[in-house]
Order: sequence, then C-alpha cells, then structure tokens
Amino acid sequence: MNTVNRRFSVAPMMDWTDAHCRYFLRLISKRALLYSEMVTTGALIHGDSARFLRHADCEHPVALQLGGSNPADLAICTKMAEVAGFDEVNLNVGCPSDRVQNNMIGACLMAHPQLVTDCVKHMQDAVQIPVTVKHRIGINGRDSYAELCDFVGSVQEAGCTSFTVHARIAILEGLSPKENRDIPPLRYDIAAQLKKDFPDLELILNGGIKTLEECTEHLQTFDGVMIGREAYHNPWLLSKVDHQLFGDAQLEITRTSILEQLRPYLVEHMAQGGKAPHITRHILGLAQGFPGARRFRQLLSADIYKTDEPMRIYDKAVEGLEGR
Ligand SMILES: Cc1cc2nc3c(=O)[nH]c(=O)nc-3n(C[C@H](O)[C@H](O)[C@H](O)COP(=O)(O)O)c2cc1C
Repeated sequence: MNTVNRRFSVAPMMDWTDAHCRYFLRLISKRALLYSEMVTTGALIHGDSARFLRHADCEHPVALQLGGSNPADLAICTKMAEVAGFDEVNLNVGCPSDRVQNNMIGACLMAHPQLVTDCVKHMQDAVQIPVTVKHRIGINGRDSYAELCDFVGSVQEAGCTSFTVHARIAILEGLSPKENRDIPPLRYDIAAQLKKDFPDLELILNGGIKTLEECTEHLQTFDGVMIGREAYHNPWLLSKVDHQLFGDAQLEITRTSILEQLRPYLVEHMAQGGKAPHITRHILGLAQGFPGARRFRQLLSADIYKTDEPMRIYDKAVEGLEGR
C-alpha cells in the first residue's frame, strides 16, 4: 500500500537533513515529504540505532533513507524503520562518494541491477510501508538510456513503484560528491523519456530545481519533484509549497512565527544537554534574501557559539527579523 504523497519532497542530505532540520522544515510546510540523511545498514545494525531512527511525531510524512547492498541486512533495517514509525524507506542508489563505493553503497549499484532488485524485494517483503529507490540516470561507463531502462525495469519487477531520479549521471572516479552534484549536466529530457516509457511508475524528478514555478512546470511531466540544496539554503521556499503545489489554503505564517514555534524545541534540547548550534545551524538560510540576513547568520552561526546565554542570542536574531 502506497499512501505517501510525493508531489514535493526535500531530498536526503548527509549532515543536513537530521531530525532537528526536519523539525524546523516541518514548521514551514505540513505537506512536504521529508527524507532523512542516508543511514548505512552497518550503522543501524551495529551502531546507535535509536539515534539514527529518532524523529518527532510532527515530522510525518517522513522517510528513512538506507545505504547498503546486503539484502538480508536491508530487510532488517527496513523493518526497524517501519517499527520506529517511518512512512517510507528509500534505498540510496545515487551517492557517488568513494567511501560508500568501497562498501557497495550508492550510485555504484546502478551497475548491478539484479542485486538492487534483490535488495528491494527483500526490503518490501519485510514491511507494509513503501520501499522506494533514489538513483541517477547512469554512471560513467554505464550511461546509455538502454542501461537506465534495464535498471528501472528490473527494480520495477521487484514491485517497486516509486523512483526518484537525480537527472544527471554520477562519475565514480575523479569527481568529489560535491562536483558530482554540479558537473555532470542535468538531463531532464532523459528523465522525461523514462516517465514516458514507464508510465505506470511514479517518477519523482530531482536535481537543480530552485523555484516553485519550476516545480509546477515539472509537475506537468513528473509525478513529483524533490529539492535538496535550495530547500536547505532557502527554507522559506517551503512556505508556499502547501498552497501552490498541494492546493491547501495559504496559512498566514511569518518567519518570526516559525522561529517562535521553534523556540521551545530549542529550550528543550538544551535542557537535555544539547547545544543550541545543533539546531540553529539549520536555520541560517531563513533570512536569505531579506534585509538583516547577514546579521541573522552572524548571530546564529558565530555569536551563539561564544555565549553562555544562547537563548538571548536567539531572541536577538528573531527580533532583528520582526515584522517580516
Ligand atoms: C550536503 C549534501 C548531502 C547529500 N547527502 C545525500 C544522501 O545522504 N543521500 C542521497 O541520496 N543524496 C544525497 N545528496 C544529494 C541530494 O539528495 C540531491 O540528490 C542533490 O543535491 C541534487 O538535488 P538539488 O540540486 O536539489 O540539491 C546530498 C546532497 C548534499 C548537498
């Protein structure tokens, strides 16, 4: 059963889309599907699983992204995610980092469609929640359209019905993960062809999308859009998602009201021994494009590290935004 609405999602991003970040983003949009950072099966099975699975009730709809290629381990982790309350599990077949390639995780798996198919099958058999795949349009040496169709067709046979495609290839040698998000050209046309050739699949487009106008345009062709960097650097973008992309009534929210709602969460985090910047580092982009943005960033990314009274700095930052 697939009841998750993927019309608009915020991409999984290591070190960025942790539980604090998702809590903050959820204050801005009720409808965006939020993805966790990638968690490897090894970390989840042998590490501090409670930490990786932690999320707040208000985060839903929220998906856990897994990295791995051992079908049995992936099945165990998918079950753990379901029990923990996640709405979806996504398998990472798009990350190009060397570190993960050595462990057969991420984009290198595009060269092994049968293994991915096997993984997805085991994952799905273990749970009721949907299992989805996030992938590239190819990898170097295996970037023909026929190979892409072979990959998607094979994984579809395992029963996967939702694919998120980052519309550029990954170059597995010579480029850093960051370069791999910018240098290989975006090929929305290839993703669109994929949707044409697999009309029954839910296809979510990812890569380089920056505005809701672009989202609306892509939604003519695709079933959903996923935004990564722009959502993190300019989270206020999400304030119009529920209205413009889901047709909900536009709520009267302001950036100040978001920060007021975040305040008790921050206080609670610190009461439990956490540090304010764990949370405030994710909200620096909120003032982007508005007067006072520099001061807001300065207070919450530098001053807050040096003070014994982080809430005073926080309030000062919020005051600086008042009225906007
Ligand atoms: C800091 C950072 C970390 C990322 N970590 C992951 C990850 O854990 N899993 C994943 O599938 N993609 C990861 N990505 C890739 C994004 O999910 C997305 O595919 C990519 O940024 C392209 O979308 P965008 O142009 O909207 O940012 C990461 C991207 C960034 C910027």
